[in-house]
Amino acid sequence: MAHESPNRALSPQQRIDALREELRHHEYLYYVQDAPEWTDAQYDARMNQLRALEGEHPELLTSDSPTQRVGGKPKEGFSKVAHSRPMLSLDNAYNEDELRAWAERVVGGLALAESVRYVCELKLDGLSLALQYEAGARGVATLKTGVTRGDGTIGEDVTSNVRTIRSVPLHVSAKKLEQAGLPAEFEVRGEVVLPQKAFERMNEDRVAQGLAPAANPRNAAAGTIRTLEPNIVAQRRLELFAYFLLRGASAGEAAGEPLLASQSASLQALRDAGFLVNPHAKTVDSIDEVLKFIAEADAMRDNLPYEIDGVVIKVDAISQQKRLGFTGKAPRWAIAYKFPARAGITKLEGVLFQVGRTGKVTPVAALAPVFIGGTTVTRATLHNPDEVVRLGVRIGDFVSVERGGDVIPKITEVVTDAKHPRGETEIVFPTHCPRCGEELVREPGEVDLRCVNVSCPARLEEELRHFASRGVMNIEGLGEAMVAQLLGHTLEEQAEHAVEAPAEDPAEEPTRKALVHSIADLYDSQKVNRETLLTLERVGEKTADALLEQIERSKKQPLQRVLLGLGIRHVGERTAQALAEEFGSIDALIVATEEELTRVNDIGPKVAATVREFFSNERNLALVERLRGYGLTFTAERKVRGTALTGLTFVLTGTLPTLTRDEAKERIEAAGGKVSGSVSKKTDYVVAGEEAGSKLEKAQQLGVAVVDEAGLLVLLG
Ligand code: IVH
Repeated sequence: MAHESPNRALSPQQRIDALREELRHHEYLYYVQDAPEWTDAQYDARMNQLRALEGEHPELLTSDSPTQRVGGKPKEGFSKVAHSRPMLSLDNAYNEDELRAWAERVVGGLALAESVRYVCELKLDGLSLALQYEAGARGVATLKTGVTRGDGTIGEDVTSNVRTIRSVPLHVSAKKLEQAGLPAEFEVRGEVVLPQKAFERMNEDRVAQGLAPAANPRNAAAGTIRTLEPNIVAQRRLELFAYFLLRGASAGEAAGEPLLASQSASLQALRDAGFLVNPHAKTVDSIDEVLKFIAEADAMRDNLPYEIDGVVIKVDAISQQKRLGFTGKAPRWAIAYKFPARAGITKLEGVLFQVGRTGKVTPVAALAPVFIGGTTVTRATLHNPDEVVRLGVRIGDFVSVERGGDVIPKITEVVTDAKHPRGETEIVFPTHCPRCGEELVREPGEVDLRCVNVSCPARLEEELRHFASRGVMNIEGLGEAMVAQLLGHTLEEQAEHAVEAPAEDPAEEPTRKALVHSIADLYDSQKVNRETLLTLERVGEKTADALLEQIERSKKQPLQRVLLGLGIRHVGERTAQALAEEFGSIDALIVATEEELTRVNDIGPKVAATVREFFSNERNLALVERLRGYGLTFTAERKVRGTALTGLTFVLTGTLPTLTRDEAKERIEAAGGKVSGSVSKKTDYVVAGEEAGSKLEKAQQLGVAVVDEAGLLVLLG
């Protein structure tokens, strides 16, 4: 018997309300909890339903609807808005002594007998924003304005851009307000950051368009938030981490004062209200513990998906904060412990030209060694010929070099002060490929020089490195040196290549015969086996066997990783995952039309065209067939989920001994389990590795079962 959908019985208003509530909840799971329960397609379907209903009933449209993230744009720049209370900056401490001196001033400023609790937070390297929420209909709070810090007293109204940040709620329900203990009017302050991946993607796009890359994620975030096109801002994937909860504008004199009695309670309330609060915050009782937190933060710095430049330490009790008060422009109750700068000045000694996976020739700066943020830097990317022109850099110049998280160091500018003489040698681009000698081309409208020889050894080398890398097929032991050896180079040649790529004199022919001539050859036991590997330098039986085992193991990598490994232009991790999820198998992808491809979320015409082009090429199809013959995974596992973990929710924390976080997540999901970003009473297991942090503590508080990797493997069966 056919049933009418139960929704039909509801009024349009009720249907709209239900859809909005559902969408908000799933946005929260996705953007705040990092634990999505819907696929992109499910999300889009609901969003389209809501759009359609709102289209039929325009009178029911409200500005806090999930459909209204990208709305009107500011026509004539941003208007100026005064802050309820100045947005101050912080005094800095650069070492333990300075931190202890601050703590002594804090304790001295308070009565001696009192104990002081401190909240340690990461110092996110972005820009601060103030968000005003106002009371809406039916006891909800809605986002009214988002304002930049500006000069601290007056900022710019960037509300239309802030609305596009998915982790910023446009609407906080009455229920959430109640749970969080909040009134419907309040102010939130926090830091907008551009996550590392989004930053890299943005710079790739900019460089491909011949624009100057942003020097670092902070500049990129600052530029983005002031962009006049909200739809561009929406694509950039900014995040906002909330760290202050204040009284709203109508509190008069008290506007901008803390709403709750402590900073730790504010963070919890913000979390409860659905804001994204950085998970790495800790309340401690002593400076020794603060120092421990700082050491932990420093250790995880490179593994965080966004940049931090220190730790902010705040006195927890607002009553104590009030008694401590402010000096000129900074509070006495907080301090920023800054990590050493990750920038330095050094001399540009030469320029090498590197040929990438797609034949793109990248100028790479050879620098006089300079110690920056814990490592010695000798190389920095110069991106493309246009960037060299923009910087106006010559060999012999002194340059500022910055390095962020995992990214390749960058030259941000030429130092032109009196102390640093200018260089004199112009940078000349090669006309021929430094590796194979083929004439380089610069296609009309393109910024890059390209080697179009598909069998250029440099391209194969990069393809293999990419294929074997951790985030792709994760073949341990197949690093740069091994790849070079498989291609017939001696270790000495490899070391030379890494240093020198003479522009006019193509690199020497490899000394030995190459073992592999394509990615697929890695799996060909006629070519890569114990005997052949043992002929390589510094390869003993143990190394050979370990590599073979890793190669074998990589056959189990899921379809999305294989797609990524094929090196299709413009297909990054997210796109590969979307393609695998939507099409389910390589065969479906091979026959997909551009139109079908663009129907997938996040895939535009540019990507669709390159995917289509890739699978229309006979060589590529032959490669796919060979890989299939060797047993690589060409169907998406997700469709046939196991059931061992059905109904169980896991939270991962710390570093596991053998599995990467992605692998652990993939395996849990493949067994029917769910992986969530934060621990709650609903969590069934916390999987803890080395340096597990606050999530482990939370699990212990809540009495949630904690297992290590071995325990997880047992559960997986
Ligand atoms: S508290 C008066 N907390 O650092 C209070 N600031 O050097 C100042 N920042 O302008 C803000 N992470 O842009 C605070 N967890 C955090 C922060 C943080 C980053 C930035 C913020 C501020 C600057 C002060």
